[in-house]
Amino acid sequence: MFDTATEQTQKSVKLDLSFLFSQDPESRLRYIQDIGKATDRVLGFLKDRTKPFSGVQPHDLKPLFEKINLNDEPQPLEEVLDELKHLYLDHAVAFHLPKYIAHLNCPVVVPSLVGEQIIAAINSSLDTWDQSAGGTLIEQKLVDWTANEIGFDNGDGVFTSGGTQSNLMAALLMRDAYTYKNLNHDIDEEGLPKEKLKIFCSEHSHFSTKKSAAILGLGQNAVISIPTDENFKMKVDELESAILQSLIRGEFPIGVVATAGTTDYGSIDPIHQIADIASRYQIWLHVDAAIGGGLLLSSEYKYLLDGIKKSDSVTIDYHKTFFQTVSCSAFVVKDSNVLSLISHHADYLNPKDQKKEGYPNQVDKSLQTTKRFDALKLWLTLRNMGKEQLGAYYDKTIELTKEAAKLIDAHTSFKLLNPPSLNCLVFRFEKDNSVGIDWNHLNKDIRKALFYNGEAMVAATKYKGDNYLKFTILNPSMTPKDFEEILSLLEGLGYELMNKLEYKIN
Ligand SMILES: Cc1ncc(COP(=O)(O)O)c(C=O)c1O
Repeated sequence: MFDTATEQTQKSVKLDLSFLFSQDPESRLRYIQDIGKATDRVLGFLKDRTKPFSGVQPHDLKPLFEKINLNDEPQPLEEVLDELKHLYLDHAVAFHLPKYIAHLNCPVVVPSLVGEQIIAAINSSLDTWDQSAGGTLIEQKLVDWTANEIGFDNGDGVFTSGGTQSNLMAALLMRDAYTYKNLNHDIDEEGLPKEKLKIFCSEHSHFSTKKSAAILGLGQNAVISIPTDENFKMKVDELESAILQSLIRGEFPIGVVATAGTTDYGSIDPIHQIADIASRYQIWLHVDAAIGGGLLLSSEYKYLLDGIKKSDSVTIDYHKTFFQTVSCSAFVVKDSNVLSLISHHADYLNPKDQKKEGYPNQVDKSLQTTKRFDALKLWLTLRNMGKEQLGAYYDKTIELTKEAAKLIDAHTSFKLLNPPSLNCLVFRFEKDNSVGIDWNHLNKDIRKALFYNGEAMVAATKYKGDNYLKFTILNPSMTPKDFEEILSLLEGLGYELMNKLEYKIN
């Protein structure tokens, strides 16, 4: 029964259809005007921002949010956008500015933004043909293109929300393919087997591999970390001996993850040699090229990915080194048949017989059901800019990283930890001949001070328990002068803090 008393006391709301993106002329006009207002705000952000961060602290912003009651009377869009300016736009971190070199965020190319506009308005869902039609073919063509650039002849794959999801898919497939083939055990039906399954990756691989093992019920301890050499690349002899020791312990090595571009050092594991070991022990090889994927388009440095075509699967983050907006990533496999291991069917969505009728879909290969049409952004970028231009942008960032490394190396106030590789440099403020200083504490606070000053943004990481600073250089519009200025800011803060008592060691 309906509660009529409640119905009667409800406020009657006028149904304003112009809020819907529909055929209604009023709705179209509203769309044009409102999107124009949003674009103006973005242009304001791009033009007015001179530093990457305002330096705002959570305790400054939280009271503003506390004042807002989301059940208040709705306001005109201009006013809502004015409010958003104070709450968000004035403080949003500006990745497009050359003094932002902290995390793996790239400035984005305009065709990608054009794509976002179309994706959002048309709102296709890339799970099934009947929710996307040509969109599915666009995604499939881009997956085929990526597979082809990698060197897979019979590849397939799917766009994902990012490297984390792509790496999860890799761990899922290596687990299921192994148990199906070698233990005659169908995890989908029977759950996890009793055998101890192990995955190998370098000590500097992305934390998503351990997270995937945890999510997949293997446990984080299923991941065996392999030491790296002085260039932060996996030691292949250590890999082989770790696999052998695992076998001796009665465990079941199921796969290895090689990283093409580690998050902190940009180092690329020796893919060829790792592929040979994976093939010798008949285990899956996944290449996490979330960062290094951009090398596929590079005329100068593509050779750094040599051997990648020997892998079973690859992660590529277009939202890192292809200058695409978040999210835009793909998981690509060498053997298209293997994806059937993770297919699930629902009568309402993707019944088994639909395939026989020739309807392509992506949901059979995906962890997601409703899925953004991220592929369109890369499509428009390739069609409008071309892969050479993207590759040239990426080459430029690698050159810039080398130049920044030279500057740091030549500086008496800084110690560079890693040789330049792709886009990452790890270093710290450590003055020659200065003793009695707690460099760990000091570097941690230099980064914090710069963060709240906002003139530039760098990242932080740890190496063997010590605190370091990090540059991640993904902006091709930077110049050596930007690095000089950032280093000078860091040095200035270093000297300022160094004289304080709290950084002295007695
Ligand atoms: C090497 C590597 N793999 C995977 C990821 C995860 O990517 P995402 O942040 O897109 O999930 C990252 C992120 O930094 C990464 O550096």
